[in-house]
Amino acid sequence: MNATVATQVASNSSIKANAIKASFPVRRMDFEFNQVPEYWMNGSAGLTHFMTALSALFPDGEKFFVDSVRAVRYHPLLKDNPAMQKEISAFIGQEAMHSKEHVGFNQSANAYGHDVASLERKTNTVIQTFRKGFVKLLKPVGITQEMIDLTATTALEHFTATIASQLLRNEEIQAKMTDETMYRLWMWHAVEENEHKAVVYDVFEAIHGRGIKAYGLRTSTMAIAMVVLLITQSYFAYRLLKQDGQFNAKSLGVIYKYAYSFKHGIITGMLPELVDYFRPGFHPNDHDTNALLARWKEKLGFNTH
Ligand SMILES: [Fe+2]
Ligand SMILES: [Fe+2]
Repeated sequence: MNATVATQVASNSSIKANAIKASFPVRRMDFEFNQVPEYWMNGSAGLTHFMTALSALFPDGEKFFVDSVRAVRYHPLLKDNPAMQKEISAFIGQEAMHSKEHVGFNQSANAYGHDVASLERKTNTVIQTFRKGFVKLLKPVGITQEMIDLTATTALEHFTATIASQLLRNEEIQAKMTDETMYRLWMWHAVEENEHKAVVYDVFEAIHGRGIKAYGLRTSTMAIAMVVLLITQSYFAYRLLKQDGQFNAKSLGVIYKYAYSFKHGIITGMLPELVDYFRPGFHPNDHDTNALLARWKEKLGFNTH
């Protein structure tokens, strides 16, 4: 091939790559949290602090997700797949925007005297402790830092997609989100978690396949990640309630009702989909949320995207 033809071929393939679009958009959001009331969730300290404890996990948690995927995006099995590269870029764009907006909300909770800043720092400590601890333990059997980070992100992305689809389905929880800004923040985030729910899983599968080693890696990581996440989030909720003088039967009662009870609980509602991750052959898109997303995108005015 002479130089002119080679240039032509290269430019044709880059035109082709540019014509490929991600299957979901990156929406630029800029919420204003100044007017958000202290107890924005139905005036309830219990529910507000429960959700704020979740929000404290996001800035560093989602940065970890982005870093884990960035570290492998040019893996030989991915670098020449323009469709996958577009999905990864859009995934990174959405998660970066989620981090930014949750930082904004967390600062507004901090301004009320709730020490979310120290919880954000603790999130980072938990992430770094576990990722570095596991690589020390597993390096001798050939498990690398990149594998641990990507596998943990794959598991946690299923968790976020599942809690997000519960938020989009659970009308009792939605009715408790009485502040319009916070309602839109959580529902926008929930929509996007479901839009990009397969990206990290597909990256994991492209690199590690569907064999017994990949299955063992992803399921054992999920079991550990769930325990760490639920303990950390519960501890954060406890800290916020305690510091606020609201650690009492009333707060614990509403948290139980809306998070853990069989009838209303957002966490208990997640169990079937969470457990499905342990099924050999599982894929995030096995849980069809297209109709749910279409409804919510219309409700939130995202139909232009
Ligand atoms: Fe997110
Ligand atoms: Fe996500």
